[in-house]
Amino acid sequence: MAEPRNRYSTVSLVLHWGIAALVLGQIILITAAEAEGSNRGLWMMLHKSGGMAILILTLTRIGWRIANPAIALPSALPKWQKVFARTTHVLFYVVLLVLPLTGWLAGSAMQRGFEFYGLFDFPLLPVGGGRETARALMTIHTSLPKLLYVLVFLHVAGALKHQFIDRDNVLHRMIPLIPRRP
Ligand code: HEM
Ligand code: HEM
Repeated sequence: MAEPRNRYSTVSLVLHWGIAALVLGQIILITAAEAEGSNRGLWMMLHKSGGMAILILTLTRIGWRIANPAIALPSALPKWQKVFARTTHVLFYVVLLVLPLTGWLAGSAMQRGFEFYGLFDFPLLPVGGGRETARALMTIHTSLPKLLYVLVFLHVAGALKHQFIDRDNVLHRMIPLIPRRP
């Protein structure tokens, strides 16, 4: 019988850590944009571009995930923990789609375009509604990061629990540089 896969594929690793870095970047960029006397236009252009990159990479990742199903969590793990971990992952995917979509839709409703990393005009979506619609969408856009922070906290706490309490190989699967335990 074939040896079960014990780490994520290189594509999955690159997508996981690339998206994680971009998400961290989004928070830094919005903080820079909102700082007094900052070059707001530049930081917002980078925030919007980073958000669209996250949307594209998340869609790619979901496609990859469907084609290559996740490797099983350790069989010793209680069922509720497996369900909890998978629920967190699904919610990550939902948030990482809805956040950029609401930003993009809000900008489109206002007919306010932006240049993708200063390279070309990013297309707007065909939505009307103007300021009212944009405001409703931005209410979602500014609320959802709270859920994102909770998810990141639970996710990192879970990863540390696996590494230091369960002492299994879950973190090694996502950071192959960490030595595999026997
Ligand atoms: C914003 C930051 C992050 C996001 C959005 C994120 C998202 C995700 C998602 C969606 C999965 C599930 C992959 C799948 O579909 O199978 C996953 C798996 C994983 N992540 Fe993260 N992650 C982030 C940061 C981190 C950090 C900082 C760590 C380590 C401390 C980490 C460790 C892991 C591990 C170990 C797994 C594998 C779990 C398993 O084997 O089922 N992640 N992450
Ligand atoms: C995963 C991707 C994204 C994340 C994590 C994210 C996160 C955030 C956060 C944390 C804020 C600040 C909320 C507040 O002030 O309470 C914000 C504001 C904003 N975002 Fe995003 N965002 C993302 C994608 C986008 C995209 C794709 C666009 C537009 C194309 C966009 C446009 C905006 C705008 C216009 C604001 C309001 C800025 C202001 O008025 O100060 N965002 N975003």
